[in-house]
Amino acid sequence: MIRKAVLPVAGFGTRCLPASKAIPKEMITIVDRPVIQYVVQEAVAAGIRDIVLVTHGSKGAIENHFDKHFELEASLEAKGKHELLEELRAIVPEDVNIISVRQSEPLGLGHAVLCARPVVGDDEPFAVLLPDVLVDDEGLARNDLAGMLEAFERTGRAQLMVEEVPHEMTHKYGIVDTGGDAPGPGESRPLVGVVEKPAVEEAPSDLAVIGRYALPGRIFPLLAETPPGAGDEIQLTDAIETLRRQEGVDAYRMRGKTFDCGHQLGYLEAILAYGQRHPRYGQGFRELLSRYAGEA
Ligand code: G1P
Repeated sequence: MIRKAVLPVAGFGTRCLPASKAIPKEMITIVDRPVIQYVVQEAVAAGIRDIVLVTHGSKGAIENHFDKHFELEASLEAKGKHELLEELRAIVPEDVNIISVRQSEPLGLGHAVLCARPVVGDDEPFAVLLPDVLVDDEGLARNDLAGMLEAFERTGRAQLMVEEVPHEMTHKYGIVDTGGDAPGPGESRPLVGVVEKPAVEEAPSDLAVIGRYALPGRIFPLLAETPPGAGDEIQLTDAIETLRRQEGVDAYRMRGKTFDCGHQLGYLEAILAYGQRHPRYGQGFRELLSRYAGEA
């Protein structure tokens, strides 16, 4: 069972400026909670119990969000605000640990994952979740991450979650080559290659790696030997390609939908989707939307 997940959160969030100047981009709010809280909830729902944040000194707000705020809890208790108190306490269930390690130099996603090596170890499989991307599981009996972790258990092979993107967007992602045998939604299939941010005309497919991975601990020694690649950064994708040549790697095609919250329109779309169905604010938000639609 995969119980550990690595969440790289050390990046400066240049794409989210000016919002991310003084607060971490992962703390930007979608309706009533920060993006990172949705990602941690997704991991917990898939059975993860140890969340390893790979973070930076300027991003303490993330650790604070997942820590117990004793004075605040005592004050809510004294005021009898029990519902709010329970909501705060449920941010991290009691059997979930939040652990943080530092990435002291911005050397790339592969390097960020490597920073978690002392916590995860080379013998244990783990998940990686990139917190810019929200994976929406609305209407699914279990979330895509749980489905992908199950595929890892079944096959013993690393899994990369993929989603179809417009062809002209392929240069922004890791793109997989399934050798013409693409998996259907909820299925996983062996890859014949994966390449980081290919030129559009060289993209081997329109299936993009969306930032959810199930990896064996054996990836760590490979990462340690991976030279800088695209963007002169140590790329996780390059170490995964080495792993694929050694023992095979699968693509898991998701059933849900992603929102890229590291991009302003993706973030606004996430607010539309999550806002409309929110138990407390959904109805009011839908009324607002129809009022604005009427004025458009
Ligand atoms: C990273 C990965 C890339 C993946 C993408 C998903 O790129 O390197 O393979 O497709 O996340 O969001 P980044 O967006 O950090 O440049």
